Amino acid sequence: MNRKIIELANTDWRHAPANGGVDPIMALETGKVLYFPAMPFTLNDVEKAFLTSTILAPKKRNISLDANGKLNGVLLDHEARYQLAAMLARFRGCASELIASLLPSYSAWLRLAPTSYRPMQVEGRAQSWRADDRRLHVDAFPSRPNNGERILRVFANINPQGLPRVWRIGEPFEEVARRFLPRLKVFSPWQARVMHALHITKTRRSEYDHLMLQMHDAMKADLDYQSKADQISMAFPAGAVWVCFSDQTSHAVMSGQFMMEQTFHLPVERQYYPEVHPLAILRRLTGRILT
Ligand code: SIN
Ligand code: FE
Repeated sequence: MNRKIIELANTDWRHAPANGGVDPIMALETGKVLYFPAMPFTLNDVEKAFLTSTILAPKKRNISLDANGKLNGVLLDHEARYQLAAMLARFRGCASELIASLLPSYSAWLRLAPTSYRPMQVEGRAQSWRADDRRLHVDAFPSRPNNGERILRVFANINPQGLPRVWRIGEPFEEVARRFLPRLKVFSPWQARVMHALHITKTRRSEYDHLMLQMHDAMKADLDYQSKADQISMAFPAGAVWVCFSDQTSHAVMSGQFMMEQTFHLPVERQYYPEVHPLAILRRLTGRILT
């Protein structure tokens, strides 16, 4: 393995990793990807029928189950909708058990975001550069400010033909921040207020949200950076699970089809280590308080 990915041998969602000399919590919180090569999310016969992108509603890339149990993005009738929702809910349960066993002190503080199922083939997907996840980026969303919360994600490759999901993983967050901070636009509090008033953002963007979004865009816009940045390619095999803070780990998806994903939000002050997260790094580098 390499220093961007920490491989763990567990095969059961409910068991904390055998300690192979690495501290998985420190690894995760410093931006590494925790990788479980054999932790399959197994579909039953009914669920296997959902392994097709034809069930996606027009113009949708993902199917999601929100925290209230509402299924979005799908073209299916009542019975099948119910079965697909149950599949996503089951994945949500597995991902929650994994995080609870891996990071027990997070559990009380996690806020559940939608569970997603991504049945589209990554290659050949047409989209704008800003939405193109084939370019290295850290996650930051234009309409959803983070309000001091982290983005923790659990991914599972469920490809039935055994095709891997191929990612690139880039340089550590601090290197990304050092490189891009000098190029970013200055934060405008009044503009953040206006965008919230006009419902362009769901809540008011903070200076931290602004910097993260600017960094996301600046990384994706820089083709020279895309090809020359320190990076590795990683083929996550079918049956694998991986976990990272996607607002910290520079990542891009290059190929694959059929993946489950669960997002959790965590208040930044609930991490195990206080000085290694993006907010702390950006505070240190800018000399500003940031929220
Ligand atoms: C992303 O979070 O950028 C995409 C990950 C994936 O679809 O594999
Ligand atoms: Fe992403």
